[in-house]
Amino acid sequence: MTPMPLAIAAAADKAIVWENDRLYLLDQRVLPAEEVYLEYHGAEDAAEGIRSMVVRGAPAIGITAAFGVVLGARRAWASAGHGWKAALEPGLGALAASRPTAVNLFWAIARMRKVIAGMADDGDPTPRLLREAQAIHAEDVAANRAMGELGAALLGERTRVITHCNAGALATGGYGTALGVIRSAWAAGKLEGVLADETRPWMQGARLTAWELAKDAIPVTLLTDGAAASRLALGDVGWMIVGSDRIAANGDVANKIGTYSLAVNAKYHGVKVMVAAPTSTIDMQLASGKEIPIETRGAEEVLCCGGTRLGAQGAEVWNPVFDVTPAALVDAIVTEKGVVENPTAEKMAELMGR
Ligand code: MRU
Repeated sequence: MTPMPLAIAAAADKAIVWENDRLYLLDQRVLPAEEVYLEYHGAEDAAEGIRSMVVRGAPAIGITAAFGVVLGARRAWASAGHGWKAALEPGLGALAASRPTAVNLFWAIARMRKVIAGMADDGDPTPRLLREAQAIHAEDVAANRAMGELGAALLGERTRVITHCNAGALATGGYGTALGVIRSAWAAGKLEGVLADETRPWMQGARLTAWELAKDAIPVTLLTDGAAASRLALGDVGWMIVGSDRIAANGDVANKIGTYSLAVNAKYHGVKVMVAAPTSTIDMQLASGKEIPIETRGAEEVLCCGGTRLGAQGAEVWNPVFDVTPAALVDAIVTEKGVVENPTAEKMAELMGR
């Protein structure tokens, strides 16, 4: 573990910090109890930071991968000189293998690869690649701001909303996708309050979403994932607002496990469903959500809670960490390029062609 420089400690809710030519990631595994930044030195250890959930959330994973490429290229140049491109390949491979579902990861690596392909091999690649990674980071924040405005405009009367997992500043370059919409709606006086599912098994809702919203003094109420249907039945929730890890060409949406059942419940109770995601989350290569690779993680994540084993010995575990909500359950996909209502393949193609 690397000591936390003071200037970085002050960054507090920034998931990814590049400062003094160093990459720091806020360790989201220990929030909100501890606010600790860890320093990363190469592409392989940045990949490990993604795999082990130090950093998580689709856009944040992509941004981290871009900075990971910078670290890898700097090392490759120092060790291999003209041979830096070949020396960087294992690092690129490690980043691509870190997590399978969020397409932002592969999008960011492809964008960095394109820059690499256009570069000569006779000079230090670090400055050019750093500019690209910083552009990816800055564009993500700008996209979130734009989505915040577009998404908030969709809310009608002042209402209460429900969210799942964490699609906030911590999951992105800053401001957030779903929480960006929520922040903008709150600023516009359109929000009564936010219900946040705790989000088993990593508790992103309880630990991260509630932390972010409480810091911004936006009223937040935590509930267990299983309590959501009962709350929607009360009739005081207008919208479900979530982020996404990958949206297929027909508008099917992969997001944190539990999103699908929340969307089914929302439809049943007449609650509108909004998905806020930048276009870097849209994968036009996949015709439908059936093709989205769904990550499954270790049994211990379900068997244990807060480091304590709760699951009975002898029980088997199924731990898919994402699910797919069919486009038919989605009222609006909000991107930085515009809003797609009642998404279809045709409407998604039109959006991506803009
Ligand atoms: O496993 P995680 O915490 O990386 O899952 C994150 C989510 O499912 C988020 O909702 C999604 O990445 C959108 S983040 C803007």
